[in-house]
Amino acid sequence: MQSHKSLKVLVVGSGGREHTLVRTCRQSPLCREVIAAPGNGGIKEDAACFDVPSDDVPGIVRLASDEEVDLVVVGPEVPLSLGVADALRDKGILVYGPGKDAAKLEASKTFTKELLQKYGIPTAASEIFTRSDEALAYLDRRSDYPVVIKADGLAAGKGVLIAADRVEAEAAVSACLEQETFGESGRSILIEEYLTGEEASIHLMVSGASFVILPSSQDHKRIGENDTGPNTGGMGAYSPAELVDSAMLETIRDGIARPSVDAIAREGLDFRGTLYIGLMLTASGPRVLELNVRFGDPETQVILPRMETDPLELMLACAKGGPVPETLKTRPESAMCVVISAGGYPGNYRKGDTIDLPKPLPRDTFVFHAGTVREPNGTLKTAGGRVLGVTAIARTLADAARDAYAACDRIRFSGMYFRRDIGAKQLSRQS
Ligand code: AMP
Ligand code: GLY
Repeated sequence: MQSHKSLKVLVVGSGGREHTLVRTCRQSPLCREVIAAPGNGGIKEDAACFDVPSDDVPGIVRLASDEEVDLVVVGPEVPLSLGVADALRDKGILVYGPGKDAAKLEASKTFTKELLQKYGIPTAASEIFTRSDEALAYLDRRSDYPVVIKADGLAAGKGVLIAADRVEAEAAVSACLEQETFGESGRSILIEEYLTGEEASIHLMVSGASFVILPSSQDHKRIGENDTGPNTGGMGAYSPAELVDSAMLETIRDGIARPSVDAIAREGLDFRGTLYIGLMLTASGPRVLELNVRFGDPETQVILPRMETDPLELMLACAKGGPVPETLKTRPESAMCVVISAGGYPGNYRKGDTIDLPKPLPRDTFVFHAGTVREPNGTLKTAGGRVLGVTAIARTLADAARDAYAACDRIRFSGMYFRRDIGAKQLSRQS
């Protein structure tokens, strides 16, 4: 058993997810100190920040050794896919986050699709192509549209195209395989069956064959209200996703989560971290859309504040490769996070606008920072596409929405934008 207040934790990353992780670690009875790299304008208020980019693997290892940290928690996928967890483990440092081999589950959609197919885990039917003539010949043989075209590698959420017809599909194939719009990431593609339904995010904390399912959530990926416009990193989330009721959760646990964790172990992948399963809840059952090897952003901003079991205790158990308990204690309330972005996001957006934040905030309302910087004179400025995430927890989702939006309406910066309809589908089902 880890003793009281003994751990020094390094959180790697600079988004809203990492701000939530920093706050969560700080609140843990196991935690003595949290530091972050590189952090952001809000993280700086909660932890000492070091100016090391998250994808500078040697820099992160050096920082963790110099600062004698006991545990590193890696937020984003890029450092994981570059092998930061392996490099830290080589130095004997505990890490929450999978090694490079297992990070391929996110870094290569073809790798994951083959794994899911091999182990019979429900997912969209799909074919893999590296040559455009073969992809086009395949499109000639099919008549059903829309069809989904996915670049194999990491593309910051932009590598998935839903083609309404043959013309759009051909353009997407050509963009990936001929014009190499996604570079190395688009050298192979998946052409995939289009699934309909509502999406849900299921996060597991995994340690080898042992795992625990975290509270369910739903993200809102499109920039515009009513799910219109281009995809983003995520414009808001809520938890729990009530579509994931206890029967659905059992189906997901037995038919998807357990078989995925077993498949990963059987393939010899050392997984100690978060497995995020992106699901489409179709009329014929849940189907895997994607696997990610880290916490979702903004899902983390609604999942972690609802956990009563200490997330740091679980992360530490995973990092050590020990078993994790099968169930956890969760707060019964609902949580909602509304993301405030800079005008223009996910296209070109402005930076450097001054942010006016309300203080004090009500007890169960939290402002998590993403793209912010704190200037030496104390002024807070915008510095990224997604700027802030406002989370509220309350007895009902409607109350959480009321509180989150009340705080959003008190925040000011030039060009700020947020969706007014986070959780709207769920709320209309309830009323
Ligand atoms: P992914 O990165 O694979 O999760 O894809 C990003 C988003 O594209 C998902 O969150 C879905 O909204 C959408 N998407 C991906 N695959 C499919 C599919 N087979 N059918 C319908 N929508 C999809
Ligand atoms: N919110 C989607 C993601 O983190 O991938």
